[in-house]
Amino acid sequence: MTKQESFQQEFEDHVRKGLTSSPKFLSSKYIYDDKGDALFQQIMALPEYYLTNAEYNIMERYAPDLRKRFGNDKGFDLIELGAGDGKKTKVLLSELINHQTNFTYIPIDISQHALDDLAERLTAEWPELEIQPEQGTYFKVLKELSSYNARPKVIMVLGSNIGNLKHEAAIQFLHEIQESMSPADLLFMGFDQKKDPLTIQTAYADPTGVTQEFNRNLLHRLNREFGADFPVEIFEHWEAYDPESGTAKSYLIATKACKVRLEKLNLNIDFRQWETIHTEISQKYDDPTVEWLAEQASLEIEEIFEDSDHLFKDYLFRKQ
Ligand code: AVI
Repeated sequence: MTKQESFQQEFEDHVRKGLTSSPKFLSSKYIYDDKGDALFQQIMALPEYYLTNAEYNIMERYAPDLRKRFGNDKGFDLIELGAGDGKKTKVLLSELINHQTNFTYIPIDISQHALDDLAERLTAEWPELEIQPEQGTYFKVLKELSSYNARPKVIMVLGSNIGNLKHEAAIQFLHEIQESMSPADLLFMGFDQKKDPLTIQTAYADPTGVTQEFNRNLLHRLNREFGADFPVEIFEHWEAYDPESGTAKSYLIATKACKVRLEKLNLNIDFRQWETIHTEISQKYDDPTVEWLAEQASLEIEEIFEDSDHLFKDYLFRKQ
């Protein structure tokens, strides 16, 4: 089976399971096709979505400290999981380049297109930047890199992507990274923090409706790729933040009863009025929870970096 075929099989199995379960669910990872990526870019530019500016602020505040932390005589590899648009990373790259730091920037992404685009923009700005984009899944590339790269590495995961995983999967994710690390290596990762519940609620239920479109993209995608006939407009986005667990949950709610056919899966699904599809979690953290996750994954926190409004933190971890 090719990679594309196994992704497709996994996607089909997930959709069948999620829509025939009670309550219904679909994973947010399937929101991200080209349209979903573009909608997420729009979310990141929303004033309500404080996460982006908060982490940008951390990079600006601490770039010199990070340079001193990461730099060494042998040089190092700065490996970023998820290429993104590079806005936050550029703050750090600029600091490293301006101080003639010996490093190679290795962005890893599943999308060759995203990597080409990023590499073109970065080399236009800094022709002297040593950049080595790697296309593939995070762990496969990390494993390959750790088998032949002798230099210390800094693995960087920005944007609280870990928050889209339940704790068990988050530990697994951290553990897989930990396994690819040597004692000299560092992991620098963003974790959105617990805060005024209204701030979180508003970030995920923005008044412009971009987040609703982002969430609904799952249904548009099923319509396109599985020959489904979801009446997308009757599904409303709903966000519920639980300040006790720190979990923000996204739903799509059928505001009217409807019948949906997914032709390619030969599947008919009934929705009662007000029935939900749970689509995403965005976990919010505090220090004890991150410490616990790290411990479970045999990592330890070395330093914590926070933005000036106390909204977001990046943690620096080392292998235990
Ligand atoms: C990608 N991820 C960290 C985003 C988040 O904050 O959970 C996805 C997102 N969902 C709604 N808004 C943004």
